[in-house]
Amino acid sequence: MFIDSANLDEIREGFSLGLLKGVTTNPSILLKEGKRRGVIVKEILDNSEGIVFVQATGSSYEEIYADCQEILAYGNKRIALKIPANIPGFQVINRLKNQNNAPIILATAIFSVDQSLLCGLAGCDYIAPYVNRMANNNINPYEVVNKTRKIYDDRGFSTKILAASFKNTNQVVDIFTAGAHTATVSSDVLRSMASKELASASISGFNRDWYELQSRLEFVKE
Ligand code: G3P
Repeated sequence: MFIDSANLDEIREGFSLGLLKGVTTNPSILLKEGKRRGVIVKEILDNSEGIVFVQATGSSYEEIYADCQEILAYGNKRIALKIPANIPGFQVINRLKNQNNAPIILATAIFSVDQSLLCGLAGCDYIAPYVNRMANNNINPYEVVNKTRKIYDDRGFSTKILAASFKNTNQVVDIFTAGAHTATVSSDVLRSMASKELASASISGFNRDWYELQSRLEFVKE
């Protein structure tokens, strides 16, 4: 699983759990930190492990390709590109995937199975279907991911489904059940996966009883 954040405290806390494979970012996430992209990406690299996904921006082929070059020029092998799954984005993916030492590419802003199919055919390493944003727009994200996974498995595509955009933990569980290979979650969602009220109540009870046992034993002669 990945953490969808550029906040260093959130990233450090997430990695302390020992289960994350990397960090995903996008321009909206970077905006919250208010630092230059090159600066925050370096800080993220220093405070995480695994892949760090950085999103290329632009509305034309030329702009997106130029931004990909700027991101790759950061010069760290852990950096992977997020590229929008639209016409100029596919054109850029095509060019990059036909170069020597092609970068790892995640096609982002996936809202439909036909988009996913094109990403598989284009040789993307990952796709990011936006679960909550689909749900908010009356699209069934579980059906999209389930059909995508079937196509990828049937065709032997190596593209992995990295689901994104969650507002609650049920969406995470349901998207894994629907066939996502992995997911990226916010710090809030990760925290609520790791801390359940019922578990906390049980753990507090065990701690209380343990201390009670210790205090009783103080009065028992060896
Ligand atoms: O990377 C895409 C993802 O961050 C979108 O999430 O919560 O803004 O819909 P959200």
